[in-house]
Amino acid sequence: MCGIVGYVGAEDCAPFLIAGLKRLEYRGYDSAGVALVGESGLEVLRSRGKLSNLESLVLRKAPKGTLGIGHTRWATHGRPSDENAHPHSFRGVAVVHNGIIENHLELREELRRAGHTFASETDTEIFAHLIAEEVEGGHDLLQATRRALRRVRGTYALAVVSETDPHTLVAAKNASPLVVGFGQGENYLASDVPALLDRTREVMFLEEGDLVRLRQDSVELFDGDGQTIARQPRHIDWTPVMAEKGGHKHFMHKEIHEQARALVDTIRSRTALETGDVVLDGVGIDEALAKSLARVTIVACGTSYHAGLVGKHYLESLAKLPVEIDVASEFRYRDPLVPPGSLCIAISQSGETADTLAAMREAKAKGARTLAVCNVVGSAIARDAEDVLYTHAGPEIGVASTKAFTTQLAAMLLLALKLGRLRGTLDADRAGKLLQDLRGAPALIEKILAREDSILAAARTYSSARDMLFLGRGLQAPVALEGALKLKEISYVHAEGYPAGEMKHGPIALIDEQVPVVVIATRDPGRGHGQDTYEKIVGNIEEVRARGGKIIALVTDGDDLVSRLADHALWVPPASAFIAPLLNVLPLQLFAYHVADHRGTDVDQPRNLAKSVTVE
Ligand code: M6R
Repeated sequence: MCGIVGYVGAEDCAPFLIAGLKRLEYRGYDSAGVALVGESGLEVLRSRGKLSNLESLVLRKAPKGTLGIGHTRWATHGRPSDENAHPHSFRGVAVVHNGIIENHLELREELRRAGHTFASETDTEIFAHLIAEEVEGGHDLLQATRRALRRVRGTYALAVVSETDPHTLVAAKNASPLVVGFGQGENYLASDVPALLDRTREVMFLEEGDLVRLRQDSVELFDGDGQTIARQPRHIDWTPVMAEKGGHKHFMHKEIHEQARALVDTIRSRTALETGDVVLDGVGIDEALAKSLARVTIVACGTSYHAGLVGKHYLESLAKLPVEIDVASEFRYRDPLVPPGSLCIAISQSGETADTLAAMREAKAKGARTLAVCNVVGSAIARDAEDVLYTHAGPEIGVASTKAFTTQLAAMLLLALKLGRLRGTLDADRAGKLLQDLRGAPALIEKILAREDSILAAARTYSSARDMLFLGRGLQAPVALEGALKLKEISYVHAEGYPAGEMKHGPIALIDEQVPVVVIATRDPGRGHGQDTYEKIVGNIEEVRARGGKIIALVTDGDDLVSRLADHALWVPPASAFIAPLLNVLPLQLFAYHVADHRGTDVDQPRNLAKSVTVE
């Protein structure tokens, strides 16, 4: 997934496509390509690496066409390479695609049986095959695309051209963004507004299920059943910098708001509710190996370490595996014991963190099997590990990790479910129920995001604090650590996270009227799992109140007890204990964001920090 541009009009569009892709470069990518339809038919040019490689290729080959699509790829299925770069083409049809197709393996197999051969490892390529078949069956490009989409499950922003129809660009949207730009005698398509800004400010954002047909002089919008939709374009005044952030003030804010989509991409294609089964592409652990595991060691840094702490709960509880977890920089220097039957899980958004890579290598050298939970396909940690479980958060640009964290939690839960099923420690019913809860999480995330105003109000009230404490228990203790890390790294407010039970052993000495305390006091409506520490956290709130401390509490909808005790309640919809960390972190991310924004710090690039720490 990453950047899409498209053009239909009267000019030779290769320069427009390259210029548009350049404006999307800020999002990061590993390869790029264009497809043009002109008098000599369809021409596709692709290149791994920097856009300048593609640009040189385009200059050399000088493709001609007044219809074209372009793409910058951030790998999800298949490593970064020329072959996996988009556009993908088949029998005169070319496609570019952002998103993830859940049933691509199934469809690939079906097509293979019908005699198709594939040129890439991507899920996207099946679109080219499916649509080309429909075109050959006599359907026009719009119908062919609609018919192909009916066979596909997943998320997509899709753009299609065909040499059978050199004046038509068709696009479709489901979950991944797509915007149409209106020109004079030409029309445009892009995944993001910056690609269009120097041509037009009249745009139309596509909505879920929309299909659009662009021609030189027309833009027609349809729903999935082929009914025409009337929607007016809107004028946008965004500056190029605002446009890069999709109208959000900061990348961090945009990325917080992308979490529902990121979770869908990470979870959906991997779960079967009926059987409770989890299919983890890239993880080759079978039943015998799972049963032979004696211990798990998790290594990670920063936010990824906090995801590991939650993962430890999941693995111990569901797969009954003892888990030790280490900050990666400590593990590598303490001559760790790695007994036979060890699995080392390295968690890293970037896949390039030097300490995490070195810790994983140390474990491997001592005989552990290695598994990476990683967001960047083909990164150093992903390349080095025997198994890779990719999170599909998409590129994260803000230095503060947000959507990477929630997708890491989802990945760890999927892994624990998988190992639990393989090891026979988890029955199908319970696994199915947990998968159902997990699949419900994106909708709950949307609910929390809709409550942003009340979080902003709390952030404004406490933004002048010098110190803050974050408390949680059980599965929420790591979320408290993460809340404190978010706040300190972007707002420079001194913040510490603690398991609430530790209060009496020291931190309570800090409490006075000047120290706001954020307490995660949500409640699992089903209780059980031995995780219910609700009464205890209520006790911790009382201790803080008795010392004059101000309480900002995360409270489950309908819980009058905690809301009465708190100075500020941040409401969260009810969720089971295992899912709650994925939800509870959101108000804390938004709280940190609004405190920092109010204090006027450089939210996306806080002082002294780098997105990827490739040195010790
Ligand atoms: O790319 P990684 O997940 O390995 O990065 C680890 C940490 O550097 C990272 O999580 C850091 O703590 C973030 N700035 C937190 O927001």
